[in-house]
Amino acid sequence: MKQKNVIAPSILSADFAHLGEEVDSVIAAGADWVHFDVMDNHFVPNLTIGPGICSALRKHGVTAPIDVHLMVQPVDRIIPDFAAAGATAISFHPEATQHVDRTIGLIHENGCHAGLALNPATPVDVLQWTLDKLDMVLLMSVNPGFGGQQFIPHVLDKLRTIRDMIDVSGRDVRLQVDGGVKIENIAAIADAGADTFVAGSAIFNTENYVETINAFRKALSI
Ligand code: DX5
Ligand code: ZN
Repeated sequence: MKQKNVIAPSILSADFAHLGEEVDSVIAAGADWVHFDVMDNHFVPNLTIGPGICSALRKHGVTAPIDVHLMVQPVDRIIPDFAAAGATAISFHPEATQHVDRTIGLIHENGCHAGLALNPATPVDVLQWTLDKLDMVLLMSVNPGFGGQQFIPHVLDKLRTIRDMIDVSGRDVRLQVDGGVKIENIAAIADAGADTFVAGSAIFNTENYVETINAFRKALSI
């Protein structure tokens, strides 16, 4: 069963000099979650934001769920820091940890929802023995590291495969797609089974967030 659609703007494309206001604006415009991309210049070739920025957003007054996407290696040491900083959900890549099951447990022990992030070429097999513990599968539709890349079309087939796995499991596991999501392709992505949509450049590179998010919702209801 698909859950209610969630729109999660990736603040990677926000104006970092005005981050608090940018987050307030997208949430006021109707976004559901804040997607928080953490990169370490090691697991991915880019460097972004850490727990200090997450806790600064909470202190600023952000109450929306903060959906942390870790693109860092190693993973475990930073999880309690993000939980203490106010993260709601934490997703990680299986390639970035020695012990996937232990990392999922660590996220739960720290009071957060756990997500597993699959790169475009990562097989879905890793879900076979993890889906019963996961709250979300994050399917990358670009190679991680940068905003503004093109959606990789074969990810639609992969979405359908994972949608079936989730439905067979009978559990409420969110299926999130991340990378190259736009007004023009969001309906096809939803049709393939996603229920949680990350969009960075397609939201923050527009002038009017209300219009953009309304256009996403309109496309989703078709
Ligand atoms: C890429 C990040 C994405 C990215 C999405 O590594 O995980 O969240 O910011 O950006 P767009 O929507 O611009 O592809
Ligand atoms: Zn992301």
